[in-house]
Amino acid sequence: MRIAMIGGGYVGLVSGACFAEFGIDVTVVEVDPKKLDALHGGRVPIYEPGLDKLVAENVAAGRLSFTGDLAEAVHGAEAIFLAVGTPTRRGDGHADLTYVYAAAEQVARAMTGYAVIVTKSTVPVGTGRRIAEIVRSTRPDLEFDVASNPEFLREGNAIGDFMRPDRVVIGAETDRAREVLRLLYRPLYLIEAPIVFTGIETAELTKYAANAFLAIKVTFINEMADLCEKVGADVHDVARGIGLDGRIGRKFLHPGPGYGGSCFPKDTLALMRTALDYGAPSRLVEATVAVNDARKSSMAMRVINACGGSVRGKTIAVLGLTFKPETDDMRDSPSISIIARLAGDGATIRAFDPEGMEQARPMLPGSVVYCRDAPDAVAGADALVLITEWNEFRALSPVKLRDAMRGRVLVDLRNVYDPIAMRQAGFDYHSIGRPGPLP
Ligand SMILES: NC(=O)c1ccc[n+]([C@@H]2O[C@H](COP(=O)([O-])OP(=O)(O)OC[C@H]3O[C@@H](n4cnc5c(N)ncnc54)[C@H](O)[C@@H]3O)[C@@H](O)[C@H]2O)c1
Repeated sequence: MRIAMIGGGYVGLVSGACFAEFGIDVTVVEVDPKKLDALHGGRVPIYEPGLDKLVAENVAAGRLSFTGDLAEAVHGAEAIFLAVGTPTRRGDGHADLTYVYAAAEQVARAMTGYAVIVTKSTVPVGTGRRIAEIVRSTRPDLEFDVASNPEFLREGNAIGDFMRPDRVVIGAETDRAREVLRLLYRPLYLIEAPIVFTGIETAELTKYAANAFLAIKVTFINEMADLCEKVGADVHDVARGIGLDGRIGRKFLHPGPGYGGSCFPKDTLALMRTALDYGAPSRLVEATVAVNDARKSSMAMRVINACGGSVRGKTIAVLGLTFKPETDDMRDSPSISIIARLAGDGATIRAFDPEGMEQARPMLPGSVVYCRDAPDAVAGADALVLITEWNEFRALSPVKLRDAMRGRVLVDLRNVYDPIAMRQAGFDYHSIGRPGPLP
């Protein structure tokens, strides 16, 4: 079986490589010449654990290839996946579908026979129907189906999530389309991954509902963390105490600086817009968006307060820039607003991130000093802020950290450190939602 994957970003590249690993012939189409050059040169342009190996093996096996020529990829493909970006449209929060519709039209022009056009991108309800209209009006002669197959992978664990998913959701309306997709996902039947067949609108909405629910969960525990700080409770114990209830579940109950990344911020906004447009507003999602925005902008104030009310003239070490560990993705990372505020208030920022520094540069103030490693970043700093919980930061010795720094302020926005060990080492240690030192 042959498929085309339009878009070679985080989702297109991972899905393409994984389908190839399933034994399918995959051609990934990428318009960005820099990314395409890298792929042709055997380099994977993003950081995702295990992806370089998976890509190399499947290229070598002749099942995975890359091209800038969409027509070449679409020719003879039984399924054509759209995995292009759907960022927030400037001004109104809607998903910007420019890339999706442009790709759909290009695909329609290039198709030579029946194929299923599948949206893997996260797209609002109604997009599948619109794609069908575009294809029909571009090529009235074509036989095709449209399907929705939203992707639920998490950056940092993307290959595992694709190969062993909790579920696969497929919105399709003809037996022929369902059969093509069933064949593509056949290896997952062996591991009994649930495949949920639905209508197209249902599949489209399911993706937004999933992301919104998770965003609500994160935001809820963040609010509980704030309350814990006021009443002297420990948010980790609260999270465990509620998470052990099977109806609630333990995942996504980690307090932090607010959710970011390439999906939750834009998907909650887009869902909010869709709900308003259809006259069924979601107050919960609206509140989540507002609470999370406020939280992200309040995080810099925590650092400023921890530094005695001003950071002017101070040197602040920042560990972790990406929105979460094991990715180089900086989209909507909390580090962006935190660093902008601290630098704007006159602090010198010395930053280190294991994978995200290249992507961070265009998003952060020009004055940020990018460091070789964590010890280099903390050298001589008045304060240390941990923003992303990369494993290598967990292992840093409190005593070595203390000796390398000039000051003693440590703001741990992910609660990775043991408060007792840090305070014993002499740090003025601040975390999220955990009680301060006992009187
Ligand atoms: N990143 C994630 O973790 C994740 C998870 C699930 C779903 N999604 C959804 O998947 C979609 C893609 O996300 P992403 O993070 O992979 O985006 P991305 O920006 O990393 O990748 C999109 C790629 O598509 C390419 N492209 C755009 N138009 C094209 C065209 N006409 N032909 C060929 N290539 C084209 C771009 O150059 C880019 O490389 C979005 O809708 C996103 O919401 C993302």
